Amino acid sequence: MAIDLRSDTVTKPSEAMRAAMASAEVGDDVYGDDPTVNSLEERVAAMFGHQAGLFTPTGSLANQLSIRTLVKPGEELLVETRSHIVRAELGAAATFSGITTRTWPSTDGLLKADDALAIAHENAGPYLVSTKAIAVENTHNFGGGTVQPIDEIAKLSSAAHARGIAMHLDGARIWNAHVASGVSFAEYGKHFDTISVCLSKGLGSPIGSVMLSTKERVAEARIWRKRYGAGMRQVGIIAAAAHYALDNNIARLAEDHARAKKIATALAAIDSSLVDPSKVHTNIVGLELSKIGITAAELTARCKDAGLWISALGPHYARLVTHLDFDDAQCDEAIEILKRTLVVK
Ligand SMILES: Cc1ncc(COP(=O)(O)O)c(C=O)c1O
Repeated sequence: MAIDLRSDTVTKPSEAMRAAMASAEVGDDVYGDDPTVNSLEERVAAMFGHQAGLFTPTGSLANQLSIRTLVKPGEELLVETRSHIVRAELGAAATFSGITTRTWPSTDGLLKADDALAIAHENAGPYLVSTKAIAVENTHNFGGGTVQPIDEIAKLSSAAHARGIAMHLDGARIWNAHVASGVSFAEYGKHFDTISVCLSKGLGSPIGSVMLSTKERVAEARIWRKRYGAGMRQVGIIAAAAHYALDNNIARLAEDHARAKKIATALAAIDSSLVDPSKVHTNIVGLELSKIGITAAELTARCKDAGLWISALGPHYARLVTHLDFDDAQCDEAIEILKRTLVVK
């Protein structure tokens, strides 16, 4: 069977997770009657010190519902150039919410508060667009699983709030950030007005994200979720998977991080321009191929032929993501395939 490292979203629910799903208590969640969803929303909100939560089918929707409660049509959201909100949500902020975005560049997605603050422009009307919110992605996916420094988050949050600018956290992989940094969920939570977290990435649920914020914003987002057609019914079946994932799959993320580091270290030994293992903070290994003489598409195709699936995310940038369904033996095999497949000039 092929080893699939395209993403940490490729995992399949374990037997124990499926058993939890099968025995879930359910109700019609559009009526607020699903006890498993209600307890999940309360549980995740409490973890991050927020008042309320809203279960959504995807992280993209949790992001979009969050930012639309912070930014009105014609106003501005600032994000880092390669963040998921602007690179991979297909223009949703503009399409659905009339939100304009401006970006600041970074190295490896790493947050520096001053980069964001330098382009922020609150109360800029009537000639310029006013900045209403700043989004931070932690960990940063296309930056290579980068963990954002808590002191930079705190600095940005307090300076932004002092200027009347709200803060959103795209925490699809905040679990990985927590395990790698030791920073508590509550500490992360206190710096943000809205948060989105995903249960379907490193934690291994098949579906599901949660948006967090105040009761008022979550109530508003609940209306918009229904308006977008994402009001779900007996969805406790998937909320039960999320509970199972929170109970069982957070601490083990350290194993995914160790395997990513092992792959990075092995590849850096072949050619140090490929990857810097010290920059592999979590479960994502980004490979820089420009100096190697192979395109990401070529590498991906060769790996696929050899039984290893990885992603080409740029002409010379490939990505491998370790996850719950990837063990030590597969890690050794993946390293062997990569060594054979990478032809270093
Ligand atoms: C950082 C980040 N945010 C949000 C999302 C969106 O999640 P979904 O695919 O559930 O919409 C992803 C998905 O990969 C992501 O990596």
